[in-house]
Order: sequence, then C-alpha cells, then structure tokens
Amino acid sequence: MCGIVAYLGEKQAYPILINGLRRLEYRGYDSAGVALLEGDALTIYKCQGKVSDLESHINGRSTVGTVGIGHTRWATHGPPNDVNAHPHQGTSGDLALIHNGIIENYAPIKEELVHRGHVFRSDTDTEVLVHLIDDIQRSENVDLAEAVRLALSNVVGAYAIVVIDRKDPEVMVAARKSSPLVIGIGEGEFFCASDATPIVEHTKNVVYLEDGEIAVIDRTKGLKIRNIKNQVKTPFIQELEMQLEALEKGGYDHFMLKEIHEQSRSIRDSMRGRLNLGKGEVVLGGIKDYEQKFVNAKRILILGCGTSWHAGMVGEYLFEEFARIPVEVEYASEFRYRNPIVNEDDIVIAISQSGETADTLAAIELAKGRGAMIIGICNVVGSSIARVTHAGSYTHAGPEIGVASTKAFTAQVTVLTLMALMIGQKRGTLSGGNFYRLLNELDAIPDKVQKVLQKEAQIKYIADIYKDASNALYLGRGYTFPVALEGALKLKEISYIHAEGYPAAEMKHGPIALIDEAMPVFVIATKGASYEKVVSNIQEVKARKGKIIAIVTEGDTMVKDLADHVIEIPETADPLVPLLSVVPLQLISYHIAVMRGCNVDQPRNLAKSVTVE
Ligand code: M6R
Repeated sequence: MCGIVAYLGEKQAYPILINGLRRLEYRGYDSAGVALLEGDALTIYKCQGKVSDLESHINGRSTVGTVGIGHTRWATHGPPNDVNAHPHQGTSGDLALIHNGIIENYAPIKEELVHRGHVFRSDTDTEVLVHLIDDIQRSENVDLAEAVRLALSNVVGAYAIVVIDRKDPEVMVAARKSSPLVIGIGEGEFFCASDATPIVEHTKNVVYLEDGEIAVIDRTKGLKIRNIKNQVKTPFIQELEMQLEALEKGGYDHFMLKEIHEQSRSIRDSMRGRLNLGKGEVVLGGIKDYEQKFVNAKRILILGCGTSWHAGMVGEYLFEEFARIPVEVEYASEFRYRNPIVNEDDIVIAISQSGETADTLAAIELAKGRGAMIIGICNVVGSSIARVTHAGSYTHAGPEIGVASTKAFTAQVTVLTLMALMIGQKRGTLSGGNFYRLLNELDAIPDKVQKVLQKEAQIKYIADIYKDASNALYLGRGYTFPVALEGALKLKEISYIHAEGYPAAEMKHGPIALIDEAMPVFVIATKGASYEKVVSNIQEVKARKGKIIAIVTEGDTMVKDLADHVIEIPETADPLVPLLSVVPLQLISYHIAVMRGCNVDQPRNLAKSVTVE
C-alpha cells in the first residue's frame, strides 16, 4: 500500500526522503514522488515507476529544502501514472499533500469544489482533499492545521496524510484515521512515516498517532497533537525496539530468502520466555489476565486474511484437538460484511503480520461491538490491531519486508500452538503426558527447521525442472491442508504461476480433471494420521501421469517409490508438521520465481500491508 515519509529539521530533506521511500518499497507501489520546501519555494517531482525512476527523473535538478514529504503510491482511484502520483496540490499551489487510504465521499466533495471553481488535474480521491483544505484555508482565513481539521471533519474514509504549506515553511501537519502514521522525534528534527522502518536509523523515539488525531509539527514549538474535535492530546513517546540491521538484506539476494532462512531463529524468538520445559508450562504474558475467559470460552473465532488466515486454519485444528473448543476460521473481509453471530463468551483471535490490514481491523471492531473478547496475534509492535485488541501475543518474528509472508506464518503458527497447548492443559483436555511430549517436540522445531533449510540445493534443482509450469496443484490433509493452501499462495503471488491448494481427498471431486503429464503436484505426505490416505491420493495422481513432488518424513520409502521427487523433513508430532513442511514450499516458490525473472520481494500488483478494503 502507499508509503509516506516526511521530514522537518536542519538537514536537507531529499536524501532522507529517498532513503525512507526505499525502506517503504516493500509495501508495494507503482509511482513515487516528493515535495521539497525551502523558504517559500515549493518544488514537486513525481513519476510512475520505482523510486529509482524518481531519482533519475530528478537527477541534476534542485533538491534544496529542509522540509519535505515523500510518497509511494499504490493505485486505487485512477491508473498508475505521473499525474496521479503524489504529492498533490490545490488550486492556489501553496500546499502539497500525500495520502495513504481512501476518501470514500470524494465524489460529492469534488462536485462542490468544481462548482466553486477548482480545477482538478488527476483522477485521484486524494486531490479532492488538498483542494478542500486549500479552499477552507482561503475561505475561512485559518492556518494550515485548522484547515486540515475542518476538512477532515467533512471526510468519510481512511487516511494518513502529511501536508506542507509554502506560506508557512516552519510547519508540517499530519493526521490519521484507519491508516497508520508514526512520528519520529529526533534532535531538532521530526519525521513522519507509514511505519517505523524509515525512522529507525534517525531516532528511536516515536509517537504512534491515534485515529482522529492531527499532529502539528512546528520547527520552534515542536510537536503538538489535537483531535478532530479540537481537544488537546498529550503525545505518548515510545522507544522503538527495532534494529536497523533487521531492515537490511544481510548478504541474501532478496528479503524473502533472508526471511525464509531466519525461521529457525524467529520460531525460537516466538517461543522465548513462553515455553518453559523445566517447569513444564506455557506462559503467555500478554493474555494472562484473560486466561480464565479463554479457558471457559464456548467458541473461538479466528479472523485474518491471506497467509494469516492459513495460519488461523492450523489454529483451528490445534484448538479443537488440544482444547476441545469449537473453532471457526473466517476471512475478515467476509466476516465484516455478514451479520455474524458473535456471543459474549466467544473468544476472537485476530491474526495479522502487519497489524494494519483494513479488513481485519474492521472485523475486530464488529466483533468487539458485539461483546466478544479479542486477542491479537501480530508481528508489528504498536500496530493498529495490536492496539485495538483487548489482549494479545506478539509473534516476535522481526520485521518482514518481503511481500510474500514466510517467517510471519511460522511465527503465527508457533504462537497459536503455544496458546492451544496452554488452554488445553488448563482445561484438562490434553493429558499431562501429551502436553510434555508436545512441549519437547515444539522446543526441537527450530533445529529441525535448520535441517530443512539445508536441503536448499536439492529444492533449487527441483525448482529448475518445474519453473516453466503453467499450473500447479498442492495437496495436504489434516494439519497439512492449510500448508497446501499456503504453498499454492506462495507460488502464485511471486511467480505468477496459477496454483491451487486442496485437501488431498477433495481432488477426486474436480481438480483431478486438470492432471496430465504437464501438471506438477506438490503433496505433503508426512507420516501421521492421514499418511496411508495421502499415499492413495498420490497413486491417483500417478495414474494420470501427474508429476509428484512429495514432502515426506525422513526415512520414508513408500512415497519415494511413487513420487518423481521427494524432499525429506525431520520427524515431528503431527500438529507441528506445518512448521516444517511449509519451509520447502517457500523455497521452491522463491527459486522458481527467481528463475522466471520475477521481482520476488515486490510482486506485481501486491502490497505488503493492505490498508484499504
Ligand atoms: O499483515 P497481514 O498478516 O494482516 O496480511 C494479510 C495478507 O495480506 C498477507 O498474508 C498476504 O496474503 C501475503 N502477501 C501472503 O504472502
């Protein structure tokens, strides 16, 4: 989604903005722009394409200015082109504005403004907002901050905005509603950004703007916050824990590959201080006060989108098996627009890597409004979902920059496993022996993930054979059905090969018609409850000449005889197989995408955090 970065201070803004925009590239975008302010000279550069295209476009031109705003746009209203790129200006030409979000009532506002003589250049909803602020500033004779406040009072939708004014170069105004915005406070300098990644190398002190808040950043008076009702708010300054190195590629060709390889460590970090083998207990500090309510829950609802939804499906199997609580897993986008039945004794678990997904946020608000207790499982500390939920457990996977989620999935599944084990133990639905055995197995997972990662050369060899496929099928059963879905999602989103995940037995009810000698079929056929059944499904594929790439348990012989290729993973308990079996599928997708020349970290049309519905 769109990325925002802004600077006001003593230094030249341009290098800080460009560097910040590069840090935000992972969010996904199709055009970029900056506005620079020096005295009353306002300069705007913007173009379709990447940040590097913007740099080439600017090359050799003036970039002077100690105040500036920068933006990467992910098109919603109007195609990606130079004119629709941000920043946008109003009729007077005094203002420059950048925006992340959607102004839902832009059409009637635009009509009114056109009637008042404003001329629009772009197809964007954003341009309406800057014209509106401009109009109010002149008609009401108010300063920028007040004009922004009055304008936003008329706006329906989601926004994070930063505005600068040629007439008042000492001030920058930022505001948010339903789209994230962080303010960094340095020595005599201020930063604004969509997330902390462009800020962390300059300062660790940040303020997360709340919904409905407007920040006025003044070179001499500092930071002041008001809300849309004009009430003064006290900024809550927090210290960032994020390390700069976590935002670099660390020697890997892509962030995705780095993040796949980090999983041994990130799974360990998700368990750190929570899984205590010595005492034989699981402690999740973030939900401690709500444990009893969880234990007594009549039902668990799990909400998420994309990969987080797949993790939620693994959660469904885990909670039902360990804690014997009925679970429903819902796409947040569907849940929010149904009239779902939510009871006060339901526990809702909302899963989101970014903590900013608009549909998940809206679904949480709906469930909250109906009295449910909401537990968040988020990766980004301080994110919107982490703040609106009643309680929660961070995944502690570290920043995930690659658009394709990898370490976030395994971290989410790890946290769900810990939760389900803890609740199962407390409810007495999981026997002591089973609980301790699973704790030990879970503790051994990071080392086993490391062993899977060592198979990369073999996986790359297999990727080379199937890189030109047009379609692929992924099959799993029980705990590995969500892994099949996740494997298919990984392949399609970064390599653009059409891929589908299915429960292995469901193949007979349709997808089997697709199978011929050109169809690679990835099957998770590890030892466990459904092993023999999956072997039968493999035979069915084989009989139709499909190519089988099977993920099997170390030492397996039966599938080895049937499959075209096998990738062995270490043995573990059935409920923990997703944590190991997803890793080869991530690597296969990665290598196929690289071999096809795809932009793995920023796949076409995709955004890292989907802050519009
Ligand atoms: O940040 P979230 O976990 O809420 O994001 C949800 C999905 O947008 C995300 O998982 C998406 O499907 C990824 N591109 C998958 O790799």
